[in-house]
Amino acid sequence: MRKYSLILAGAILIASCAGKKTANLPVYLDPDKPLEERVEDALSRMTLEEKVAMTHAQSKFSSPGVPRLGIPEVWCTDGPHGIRPEVLWDDWDQAGWTNDSCTAFPALSNLAATWDRELSRLYGDCIGEEARYRKKDILLGPGINICRTPLNGRNFEYMGEDPFLSGEMVVPYIQGVQANGVAACVKHFAVNNQEVRRTLTSSNVDDRTLYEIYLPAFKAAVQKGGAWAVMGSYNLYNNQFNCHNKRLLCDILKGEWGFDGVVVSDWGGARDDDEAVTNGLDMEFGTWTNGLTGAPSDSYNNYHLARPYLERLADGRADEATLNDKARRILRTIFRTSMNPEHHFGRFVCPEHYEAARKIAAEGIVLLKNEGALPIDEKVGKILVVGENAVKKMVVGGGSSNLKTRYEVTPLEALEEAYGEKVSWVRGYVGDVSTSYNKVSTGQDLSDSRSSEELIAEAVAEAGKADLVIFIGGLNKSANQDNEGTDRVQLDMPYGQESVIRAIAAVNPKLVVVNISGSPVSMPWAEVASAIVQSWYGGTETGHALVDVLSGAVNPSGKLPFTVPCSLEDGPLKTERQYPGVREEGKRYWQEYYDEGIFVGYRWYDTKGIKVQFPFGYGLSYTTFDYSGAKAGKSLREGGSVKVSVNVRNTGDRDGAEVVELYVAAPEIEGVERAAKELKGFEKIFLKAGESRTVTFTLTPSDISRFDPEAHKWVADKGTYKALFGTSSADILAEATFEMK
Ligand code: BGC
Repeated sequence: MRKYSLILAGAILIASCAGKKTANLPVYLDPDKPLEERVEDALSRMTLEEKVAMTHAQSKFSSPGVPRLGIPEVWCTDGPHGIRPEVLWDDWDQAGWTNDSCTAFPALSNLAATWDRELSRLYGDCIGEEARYRKKDILLGPGINICRTPLNGRNFEYMGEDPFLSGEMVVPYIQGVQANGVAACVKHFAVNNQEVRRTLTSSNVDDRTLYEIYLPAFKAAVQKGGAWAVMGSYNLYNNQFNCHNKRLLCDILKGEWGFDGVVVSDWGGARDDDEAVTNGLDMEFGTWTNGLTGAPSDSYNNYHLARPYLERLADGRADEATLNDKARRILRTIFRTSMNPEHHFGRFVCPEHYEAARKIAAEGIVLLKNEGALPIDEKVGKILVVGENAVKKMVVGGGSSNLKTRYEVTPLEALEEAYGEKVSWVRGYVGDVSTSYNKVSTGQDLSDSRSSEELIAEAVAEAGKADLVIFIGGLNKSANQDNEGTDRVQLDMPYGQESVIRAIAAVNPKLVVVNISGSPVSMPWAEVASAIVQSWYGGTETGHALVDVLSGAVNPSGKLPFTVPCSLEDGPLKTERQYPGVREEGKRYWQEYYDEGIFVGYRWYDTKGIKVQFPFGYGLSYTTFDYSGAKAGKSLREGGSVKVSVNVRNTGDRDGAEVVELYVAAPEIEGVERAAKELKGFEKIFLKAGESRTVTFTLTPSDISRFDPEAHKWVADKGTYKALFGTSSADILAEATFEMK
């Protein structure tokens, strides 16, 4: 009895102390108070100088909070694929901490290829946990710029060529990250579709194309995903830099879409003292005020939103109301993240994250061709592996998404783990031997002084003796490959890989070619391979994921998030003014014109009837699926919806998943350009062998609308629409029609 009264007395004491403490807390510190009240209270206590200090960096990745008020600093981190190692205060090199090796998740191109919203949520949950554990408030990702050209060096960090696919896949990622009290920072806003002269080129895009192709994924990120942060891009749009582009940031993002979060500059992307203040930028980060040139260290006081901003406030060229708007957004970000009432702690490099990384990587691998070489026969004899990408660790490199990972399983290591001494490896070609980036090193030595003739001769000799040859090549994350800051220079595989493939195939037709890349690579040699696999930068577990698919432990279900064309010439970018841009009299920056309009990716190839190597949405399985019985409700009206459905059956003898893709073809209307079809729905379903299921989609008028630039609104034209169900944009297997009334 005495024991219980003591416990009770203790509890009352604790409760009354806690109550007293909350009662005395200033509103901004009180987690029970509504967010906006906390923001206003904090703002009312801040000096002008404190507000300005918040708007610019104090180090490579942080900005100050309000030390006097106990409001924490804001810490950002790259990037979309994992938590970047700590870098030096004033330099890009890693700081040499020993506790910052992360889980490297698959590149976003790999995630997009899963076409699986649940996996995107899993990705967001896990990377959000890693960011929170490492005490980061803003995760600089995901990237969702559209793959306009296969040559864009950063396609690997993005989610493919289709606005609907990108928009659907980005939302769960953001929600997962933010559920951990970490802001997702969607980048790079907007029309930032190449790396060549990325800080010097103006993207000139008509409104219809802007609204239909380049903005929808960002709009979904903000409105459906509820993203708390957006990063402006390096390039210009209509000749104004995007980190302070009035139309993009003030009119569209904060105006039309009602974005209440924080706009951060890309690093060094703010370029003008006045525009940085007035045109929607809230926080400036970077290297030096004019972008990416070298400069004395600790130059943060010279940032556009630092001393020049204070001068403008002092002499009346800038007003405090605009500053307050920026400070409110920054405070909101802090109260949503480090001062979030639900205390999150995250977790880091744990078995659950490795497992998630492996699952996502495997589910995104795309089987492009299979004449029976895959899955690898259990009774397989000698396996010869050829190619640099079987051994090159690729988490390191590529630019700002460079990571230091706790470990990385290469394809060769995973094959050896699965098939033991049956496996041997020869190099075949020498690609890029670099193994470090920003002082993060893989510790490998990839140097090789042999000539390509010697390397091919060795591969051919060994291939002749093998039962199965697996060539593992493609691109890497070095300059002019899948890499930030440069674009690719060719669509084909580099480093003479085609000759190696053809030479091996001539002596051993049982050849599986694995292309590792984050962007489309043409495959003129496709007919000589008996199987082709599109793999990706899969991160920590990349090798295991690949072998899961090659061995059949995982039945492939990835689909291409972009078209693989036969050649660059077939694509929509025909002129230099389209890509990579031209110089024009009287214009300070390079000019690039999106003359192809809405005809990007499959919208171009399908509408013009141009044959491609592998279409958008394409991907095989070890089983087969049959589509039948497409149905559509009769009609669709303003404010209503229509259901369309199809039956899908697993007709093979293995269980497997299929992505059912719904495209819509609009009626032909004179004077109105439309793509032959557009992706408007997809569902990934798992079917046991022999099982069938009806997949139903609901369409509303806004799903079938086009953007009318003159009226500045979305229009659903009347007429007969086709609902096309397929297994890629080029393989439509069932269709039904409905009327828009
Ligand atoms: C990249 C951003 C990145 C930033 C910080 C820039 O070069 O464009 O994507 O988040 O650096 O590393």
